[in-house]
Amino acid sequence: MPPHISMVIIDSDQPSRDVIASIVRPFADTIRIEGSVDDFGEGLKLIQKTSANIVILEVSDLNRGVEEIQYLLANHPQLSVIVSSFEKNPEWILKLMRTGAVEYLLRPIAQDELIQALTKVGRFWFAKPPTETKAGKIIAVYYPTGGVGVTTVAVNLAAGLSSDSEKVALVDLNLLTGDISTFLDVNPSYTLSSVTNNIARLDANFLMGVMTRHSSGPYVLTEPTEVDEAINITPEQVTRLLQFLKGIFDYVVVDWGGQLAGCTMAILENANLIFFTTVLSLPAIKTSKRYLTAMERKGIRKNRLKLLVNRYLPKADIQIKDAERVLGYPVFTALPNDYENVISSVNKGIPLIKLLPRSPASKAFGTMVELTKKEMGG
Ligand SMILES: Nc1ncnc2c1ncn2[C@@H]1O[C@H](COP(=O)(O)OP(=O)(O)OP(=O)(O)O)[C@@H](O)[C@H]1O
Ligand SMILES: [Mg+2]
Repeated sequence: MPPHISMVIIDSDQPSRDVIASIVRPFADTIRIEGSVDDFGEGLKLIQKTSANIVILEVSDLNRGVEEIQYLLANHPQLSVIVSSFEKNPEWILKLMRTGAVEYLLRPIAQDELIQALTKVGRFWFAKPPTETKAGKIIAVYYPTGGVGVTTVAVNLAAGLSSDSEKVALVDLNLLTGDISTFLDVNPSYTLSSVTNNIARLDANFLMGVMTRHSSGPYVLTEPTEVDEAINITPEQVTRLLQFLKGIFDYVVVDWGGQLAGCTMAILENANLIFFTTVLSLPAIKTSKRYLTAMERKGIRKNRLKLLVNRYLPKADIQIKDAERVLGYPVFTALPNDYENVISSVNKGIPLIKLLPRSPASKAFGTMVELTKKEMGG
């Protein structure tokens, strides 16, 4: 059976609805228009009835648009929302994309732009089974006990790796204390546990349906919302999930912490590269030494383990060469201490590398991204 995208148009302007319908008509064998209505409530009913994959939503009032998108995505996580609006104000575009819209089309809608948007959205619905597709790379960003900047690194690495040609997934596997959704200001109703609970019907379409595209590029799968849910996730489920993601994405960046057992070991064993993130403080160096040694003992080859130094201060007591000597690893990249900028990016929900690309930490993230690509042979 050929794959099908089903689409709903919500637009108060009859001629606009007709234009959209006529642009889509040549693709009738893959895109089915379930209905075209002038009212949000009607559109909602249609989406409910048909489980549509795409809605083209007219937005003429910013706050109402945000509310409508929030409502749509909370209730229909499979949906991709394409906004059409007369408004050119970047604030509108940013806000609506951050709420979860995948594309923003300026009215009057141009044929090539709509087709481009649909192709982009459609590519994921038509993603082939993993066996026939990519051999994506899994990159785990790790520190056992937290607080050193794992999430900061993961979010910026994922945003930096993501481009038109490189698809990136960002997965929060901090089963109990994940915070990617806060860092990226996303509030998806479907999280990691919705995937692991449905592991039997896991396929590319399902997975793409529950992942949220962030405006900075990566597709995000966040931590479970309930602590109880996290406890039920098994190492086998984690492995299956990672294998699947590898088939769809070029890079899968995993935000990860915890003891060397269970799900943690499942991630370790699947990762092509492990960024062991640390800071140059005595307790952190001690912890790092213990864990790096334990990881090697558990059979993690040294060449998969890369040492990252975060919050680096050139005048600190412990220097990079000291850490390298004690830990027995060269430092892959040192990311400068850049608290003001880092915290401001967290509060805005946008990775620093996108928000302030010229800041000291962003430059270091840029270097790290290039080195990572090189390391992965890309
Ligand atoms: N390069 C940096 N310069 C300055 N501050 C940083 C840097 N990286 C991270 N931070 C700050 O350190 C704190 C911890 O960062 P983050 O949440 O990324 O760490 P984590 O290891 O994921 O911690 P958790 O255990 O909470 O998951 C945050 O307040 C963050 O803003
Ligand atoms: Mg974290």
